[in-house]
Amino acid sequence: MKEFRRNILITGGAGFIGSHVIRRFINNYPQYRIINADSLTYAGNLANLEDVKDASNYIFVKADICNFELMQDIFHKYNIDSVIHLAAESHVDRSIKDPFAFAHTNIMGTLNLLEAAKRTWKNSEAVNGEYRNMFYHVSTDEVYGDLDFDGTLFTESTAYDPHSPYSASKASSDHFVRAYHDTYNLPIVISNCSNNYGSHQFPEKLIPLFINNIRHNKPLPVYGKGENVRDWLWVNDHARAIDVIFHEGKIRETYNIGGFNEWTNIDLIKVIIKTVDRLLGRAEGTSDNLITYVTDRAGHDLRYAIDSTKLKNELGWKPSLQFEEGIEITVKWYLENQKWLDNVTSGDYQRYYDNMYRDR
Ligand code: NAD
Ligand code: DAU
Repeated sequence: MKEFRRNILITGGAGFIGSHVIRRFINNYPQYRIINADSLTYAGNLANLEDVKDASNYIFVKADICNFELMQDIFHKYNIDSVIHLAAESHVDRSIKDPFAFAHTNIMGTLNLLEAAKRTWKNSEAVNGEYRNMFYHVSTDEVYGDLDFDGTLFTESTAYDPHSPYSASKASSDHFVRAYHDTYNLPIVISNCSNNYGSHQFPEKLIPLFINNIRHNKPLPVYGKGENVRDWLWVNDHARAIDVIFHEGKIRETYNIGGFNEWTNIDLIKVIIKTVDRLLGRAEGTSDNLITYVTDRAGHDLRYAIDSTKLKNELGWKPSLQFEEGIEITVKWYLENQKWLDNVTSGDYQRYYDNMYRDR
């Protein structure tokens, strides 16, 4: 049997970002064995990994990170030496409706993984400068709260100030991860990233939801006045940053990842409308009337903007793609993959979406 140099547990690999990370690691590192543990919630979809599912360095395990015994079994069975932890409940609107699910998965699930790692990795000291073990926790910029329209940016030393149940659960998980280093010496690293866009994102999030709605002439529900600002990064650039930090990041450090690419929601929506209409051969302006201002999201964060200078200066990472190019690729992907969209929007999600509308 082939000996692998590392056995890396990637959690949440069937989701949006996780599937891009899994694909990157399988293709770029044949010397590593990648174990994808995902419970396949509404947001997890094995179709996201169709092209790599038969790779010889890849194993999929349907597993819930909230099941501690199962996590321990996975660590032992596959001789796990590193973790890249992405599994989470990730949608802010859902967290407002059901905060318990977010505390359960994002806090308790992370704690289970930390504890399984702690019990399995008896000696995590570095040998010749190289750590044999690494617990990499993938987090979000939302833990920092929000910013005013004053040009300030989130840095790694910005104080935590989460506002939604989602961001509060992610902040809590970040604290647990650091505590496991400080208390038990577990080798950890954390990154906090801004809004991702790209292929395979579940269409409850702004960009894929709106592309799909424009195509089907459905209303585009803009929360509040559409003035909120997000900092958008191409998902493949996030996956590349995770790769760099996993290999070169310093233990116990935090790295912010962002695109220096701020957009108000309404300006972004106008770009999406224009791009979809053009690619569908419709006259410019055809879908402008789909914009529908609806009640604002409760506790809606005003502005996110990440300063990723540390990652650039220390590890040499910077975004590879201009936003205009990335959005074109992304819109094309959704228009060409209607089957994928139909598949993930059938059943439970459609019912949830209909209920959301009823409440607004
Ligand atoms: P996603 O919702 O698309 O995917 C989450 C994945 O986790 C799914 O495959 C789901 O099945 C799996 N999962 C959920 N609960 C699980 C459980 N209990 N056990 C095992 N698997 C479970 O999320 P995403 O947008 O890809 O985000 C991935 C990670 O990156 C999350 O931790 C999120 O907080 C973080 N993040 C996301 C963004 C973004 O813009 N999407 C930005 C910064 C950070
Ligand atoms: O900043 C990183 C975070 O980005 C991640 O941690 C989260 O997992 C991810 O979901 C994302 O959170 P947001 O709340 O910023 O993303 P969302 O796509 O839900 O919304 C983007 C903006 O668009 C936000 O200001 C709310 C607004 N919006 C969203 C939806 C779904 C609308 O106006 N209408 C909508 O229907």
